[in-house]
Amino acid sequence: MKKLLFVNACVRRDTSRTQRLGRVWIHRLCREQPCEVEEVILEEEALSGLDTGSLARRDRLLNEGHLEHEMFRYAREFRKADEIIIAAPYWDLSFPAALKCYLEAVSIVGLTFHYRMDGTPEGLCRAKRLTYITTAGGFIGQNNFGYEYIRGLAELFGIEEIQEFRAEGLDIIGADTEAILKQAETELLA
Ligand SMILES: Cc1cc2nc3c(=O)[nH]c(=O)nc-3n(C[C@H](O)[C@H](O)[C@H](O)COP(=O)(O)O)c2cc1C
Repeated sequence: MKKLLFVNACVRRDTSRTQRLGRVWIHRLCREQPCEVEEVILEEEALSGLDTGSLARRDRLLNEGHLEHEMFRYAREFRKADEIIIAAPYWDLSFPAALKCYLEAVSIVGLTFHYRMDGTPEGLCRAKRLTYITTAGGFIGQNNFGYEYIRGLAELFGIEEIQEFRAEGLDIIGADTEAILKQAETELLA
């Protein structure tokens, strides 16, 4: 069965509009073919960025080849997914910090990518497609920096099809939020 990995970076858990759209996209994918969905709710994970101690520990484990260590479980999950969905609200022109911590945990040489003998990188992930879903209070325009960064990483990981979906203007005074979300859902299901 197709394995979907849903990286849920939505901080407003129950009321998140981004999460709502992420779930609609997953519904659409599972309608196309039977899927097994693995969801990583970043709010519920004890994620933090690398610091002096954790970086030294990580270097040691990698040098000793302990890729089965608990520290690398996010990278192992990411590597074996057939398709990846990331839902993250548009925060400060990108996304919440927990997603950066998660991506640090996923970017592991020897699991999600490696370097060939000539020094060029090669992706090691199975996923053929990654979809990045965001919602914004205002309008994003060309400034979807979070998505652009994830696109670069996904390319490094060997994922060929990378796409974004956005719903915008949700916090503009007078906006019909429900109508914007309904329209976004229609587009996701089309
Ligand atoms: C900490 C924070 C930062 C935000 N930064 C931006 C921003 O830079 N640009 C923007 O248009 N909206 C910004 N917003 C508004 C959110 O993008 C908007 O409310 C979004 O729909 C939230 O998604 P959610 O309903 O999934 O939580 C910000 C909201 C928060 C809480």
